[in-house]
Amino acid sequence: MVPKLVCLLVFHICSYNSIGVVSSSDSNNKNKNNKAPAGPQNYTVFDKSLVAEEILAEDVLKNYQAFFRETDEYRFDGLVLGYVTPWNNHGYDIAKIFGNKFTHISPVWLQIVRKGTKKYEVRGTHDVDKGWVAAVRNAGRERKLKIVPRILFESWTGNDYSKLLSSQQEMDALVNAFVEAAKEFGFDGYVLEIWSQIATAIPFDPLVGLIRDIADGLSTESLETILVIPPKRGKENLFNDKHFDALYDFVTAFSLMTYDFSNPYMPGANAPLPWVRDCVTSLTSDVDKRKKILTGLNFYGNDYVTNGGGPILAHDYISRLKLLKKGKLKYDAQAAEHFFEYKDKDKKKHTVFYPTLYSINKRLELTKDLNTGISIWELGQGLDYFYDLL
Ligand SMILES: *[C@@H]1O[C@H](CO)[C@@H](O)[C@H](O)[C@H]1NC(C)=O
Repeated sequence: MVPKLVCLLVFHICSYNSIGVVSSSDSNNKNKNNKAPAGPQNYTVFDKSLVAEEILAEDVLKNYQAFFRETDEYRFDGLVLGYVTPWNNHGYDIAKIFGNKFTHISPVWLQIVRKGTKKYEVRGTHDVDKGWVAAVRNAGRERKLKIVPRILFESWTGNDYSKLLSSQQEMDALVNAFVEAAKEFGFDGYVLEIWSQIATAIPFDPLVGLIRDIADGLSTESLETILVIPPKRGKENLFNDKHFDALYDFVTAFSLMTYDFSNPYMPGANAPLPWVRDCVTSLTSDVDKRKKILTGLNFYGNDYVTNGGGPILAHDYISRLKLLKKGKLKYDAQAAEHFFEYKDKDKKKHTVFYPTLYSINKRLELTKDLNTGISIWELGQGLDYFYDLL
């Protein structure tokens, strides 16, 4: 029992020997030995022809836990941001194994609160794991990977914002709280989650000024600022080309949330490809400036029923795929996403959308074509073989 447990804990090392090598004596035992490979392998998903429009459920089930052993190699030259959340902690392992495929890792740990006159506090630091931060930096050392936690402006009132906007000393105190936490925990900057909350409440000039002041203050201390920005949704466009131009010189990048196009009331593809393209091109026609746009990729899916359903993660997807048995995934060529349908025990019809190697690769091709970087929400939700694509 003990070796098995050890293998589970360090699966990516053990499987080199226990699963990766098939000796000739094994060939007599084919049926007993058809366990799906897991961990590092000698071949990429491209070598195995798995990046294909036509895929069977079993193609996914047999291969999703295996990845190419040269985990330091990368295929994507632009900025690559990966989010990691404490509540899907497989992402912590992914960041350590594939660190060199990323330029930025953003753990979703922090909140900034306003506690009173010129008093700001960074909360959530109990989640900071310094050992993990060091391991991820080491994995990504060739690309000088940066740790930029996401920070949420939590429980801010209109009064808090107007106080901040009307006083330089308030702004200095806010920036100081950011800088102190970065020094204490060794962060390289922050991913700011603030725009969607305030974009309709604050006029253009003070709104842009607020982000500029924070980014300026951070850059004085050599800290980076990445701003989370919402995508275009129909007529609603909270972040447009004018905002982009006004902030371009001040931030390291914009993390563009090109996902959740659909929802239970309007089920469908998570991020139709033409919509993703439109979200990027509407921000700027300047191809060079697009390097600072991190096109968002969802590594989660959705399971829809009539008037309901919601997000699913890797393990939910795998358990549903097993119901498909020898079935084939369907492909929506317009959206460039795969999906499949199944009936549950109450004979209720479900439609499942979840990224595939092919759909992700289509999006990577698009971002190369548009000259943007990428951001992934989030590393704990996807399948291990997705990382061969990056
Ligand atoms: C993988 O490559 C290594 C080194 O080249 C080799 O020793 C090993 O047998 C290969 N494994 C498989 C399953 O082909």
